[in-house]
This record gives sequence, structure tokens and C-alpha cells, in this order.
Amino acid sequence: MRQKILIVFGTRPEAIKMAPLIKKFQEKSEIFDLKVCVTAQHREMLDQVLELFEIKPDYDLNIMKSGQDLYDVTSNVLLGMREVLVEFKPDIVFVHGDTSTTSSTALSAFYQQIKVAHIEAGLRTGDIYSPWPEEANRQITGVLANYHFAPTTTSQENLLRENKEPKSILVTGNTVIDALYLALDKIKNNSTLKESIVKSIEDEIADENFSLDSSKFILITGHRRENHGQGFINICKALKTIALNNPNITIIYPVHLNPNVQKPVNELLSDVKNIYLIKPMQYEAFIYMMDKSYFIITDSGGVQEEAPSLGKPVLVMRDTTERPEALEAGTVKLVGTDTNLIIQEAQKLLNSEEEYAFMSKAHNPYGDGTACEQIVNFFRK
Ligand code: UD1
Ligand code: UDP
Repeated sequence: MRQKILIVFGTRPEAIKMAPLIKKFQEKSEIFDLKVCVTAQHREMLDQVLELFEIKPDYDLNIMKSGQDLYDVTSNVLLGMREVLVEFKPDIVFVHGDTSTTSSTALSAFYQQIKVAHIEAGLRTGDIYSPWPEEANRQITGVLANYHFAPTTTSQENLLRENKEPKSILVTGNTVIDALYLALDKIKNNSTLKESIVKSIEDEIADENFSLDSSKFILITGHRRENHGQGFINICKALKTIALNNPNITIIYPVHLNPNVQKPVNELLSDVKNIYLIKPMQYEAFIYMMDKSYFIITDSGGVQEEAPSLGKPVLVMRDTTERPEALEAGTVKLVGTDTNLIIQEAQKLLNSEEEYAFMSKAHNPYGDGTACEQIVNFFRK
């Protein structure tokens, strides 16, 4: 009898990080009966990834509503998953990371006593309000999960401290590195793809004075719920000052579709000449932009994991991080949403070659690109 596996995700980063795992399970279809369920907590940003990796979900809960709150997502996923689990009756449900899709799906599976495998397990800040609500989401998922796939030994230690069974934990690296290597390889070996990526980015920026190869640019992303409101106003003020003080530098910002992000960013930054506000980029194009950027300012979890592999310094607009490995190596710095600190640290990177060289060491604490293979092998045994 083949093992019945259900992989569930709902947002862009979960899709990117689950895509290589889906491919690996599909390669072993004689052992695994795999089905994919998307909650579609995100719609357009999820569909971009599904299209790129050619993933056709077996179930689509299609829950996204504009401006949804945490109750909407949590309750719609919990109820929607009930039907899927009753119909497919999986042996194991795979969830990823720390979104509301993750914790609600884990709870839904638990209510039917179906085993849960948690990918990207064991990340902790210890403060349930930072990042909010993600820290609580991953702790809840950790309580309900039967198998924990930890990206690093730090996350493994966090799980052991919570008395998880040592046998239930496997350190695999982060599946995002599998996705990153797949994308980089594809771009390197396909000049037509590379040309089309460059064209899509330059078309989006639509300024003949900008060139991906020769313009020096800072790449920005941001979306965290705890930064909504004053946090985003502070961030935008900082970006505007950096842009005005450095007219020879370009700032490129693919703006998350959340209306709580779109509104302040468009209101405060759309008239700054050297800031380009663009649509969320397709994954491969975004990776290419990261690789070509001078440095990155972000509050994203995934970007903090990808950038060190590319040797790009990252200023993280958060007060805490559950990813201490790059912080310890000095390639990532926490700047919170303090306008002056963001400006000061960005200016340091722009002015000081020494500071830039120190932060731009390429290193890779988050895996070697074999996480998905290790996870599949764990279940083959
Ligand atoms: C969610 C996750 C967060 C994760 C992030 C990745 C929760 C509570 N939050 O935050 O952990 O880091 O995704 O990006 O699970 N929207 C669209 N189209 C899209 C996607 C979003 O229009 O494709 C808009 C909608 O108005 C939606 C809103 O963004 O209601 C918020 O989406 P939601 O998933 O609730 O929150 P995120 O901030 O994206
Ligand atoms: N990303 C992307 N297009 C963009 C911005 C980001 O494909 O325009 C990718 C990025 O490379 C990373 C992931 O999306 O893999 C991060 O997603 P996000 O910041 O939304 O969520 P988080 O990682 O903070 O949960």
C-alpha cells in the first residue's frame, strides 16, 4: 500500500518552500500517493509560484478575501480542511512554517488524529508577539506535529528544549535552499530564460536610465503584520530619505499585495524619482534581482535565508529574529522600524567599503539543497 501524503500550503513563501518537496515525492510515486491542497490564503502571489513550478493542486480551498483578518483565515482553513481530510484520508499531512494556514491545517488534521509533519520546524523567538502571529502559529504547530524537520541545529535544540522526542526530529537544512539552487541552476543554464527575466524586470521598471547590470540598487520587501501602521510609515520615511540623500542609488521595491502595505507605500513613496514601486516579482526574477542588488532591506523570513547564500548584506526591519545563524555570522543586521537606524545602517553600507565587505561574505547556514531528498528518504524508511 502506498503512503497517502497530503501537502498543504497557502501563501507565497510556503509554496516556494514546498515546491521542491512536491517534486521529490512525485519522483517516488510507486511509494507515495501524493495529493496537494492549497488553501489559497494568498491568491495571485500563490498562483505565480504554482505556475512557475507547474504544480496543479488536487484541492483548492480558495479562501482569500481582500483585507482578511486572522479570524477569517483561521476559521476558513480549519473548516475547509475538514472536508479534504475526510475525502482523501491521508496517512500524513505536511505543513510548512508559521502561517495561519500552517497552524489551522495542523489543528484540522489533529482533530481527525491524522499525523502531521512540520517542515521548517523549531524556529523560535520565544516572544509570541514577535513575529505576530507567526511565533504562536509555529509553537502551536510544534505541539500538534508528530515529525519535525528542522532547518538547523539551533532549531533542533529549540525543539529538544520543548521535550520533543529526539527520534521525531531531523535536521535537514531549509527547503528554501533547494528552491534557490533549482532557480539559480535553471537561470545559469538557460540564456533565453535569463534574457526573458532581465526583460521582464526592465519592462516593469520602465526607465531607460536603469540597467540591471550597471545600476547600483537596493532591493526592498516588507509585509509583517506587526509593522502595519506606524511601522510602515517609519520604514517609508527612511526609504525616502535614503533615496533623496543618494540620488545615484536606485531603490526597487516589489510591493506585497496586502492593502495595509500597498496604502502607506504608495502614498508615501510613489513620487520619489529614484524609488521604483513594482508588482510582486515571479520567484526566478526576484532571485535574479537579489543577486544583482547591492544590498537588501526586508522584514521577510525567506529573504533572510536566501540572501546569505548570494553574499548579499541584509538589514532586517524587525526587532527579533528566529533565524540567528546569519546574524551571528554578521551578514544580517536587525534595524527594527526605527527610521533613523534604517537610514544610518543603510548609509554605512553605502559609504564604508569595509562594512560592506564584512557583511557581504557569502555563507550558507541554511542548508545544502538536499533538504527535500532527506525528508522523502525519512518516510521511505
Ligand atoms: C501572510 C502570513 C505571513 C507570511 C506572509 C507571506 C499569516 C497570518 N500571515 O501574511 O506569516 O509571512 O503571508 O507573504 O498567516 N493579498 C492579495 N493577493 C495575494 C496575497 C495577499 O490581494 O496574492 C492581500 C489580500 O487583501 C489579503 C491580504 O493581502 O487579504 C493579507 O493576506 P494574508 O495572507 O492574510 O497576510 P499576509 O500579510 O500576506
Ligand atoms: N519573493 C518573490 N517575489 C517577490 C518578493 C519575494 O518570489 O517579489 C520570494 C522570496 O525570494 C522568498 C519569499 O518570496 O522566497 C518570501 O516571501 P515573503 O517575504 O512574502 O514571506 P516570508 O518569507 O516573510 O514568510
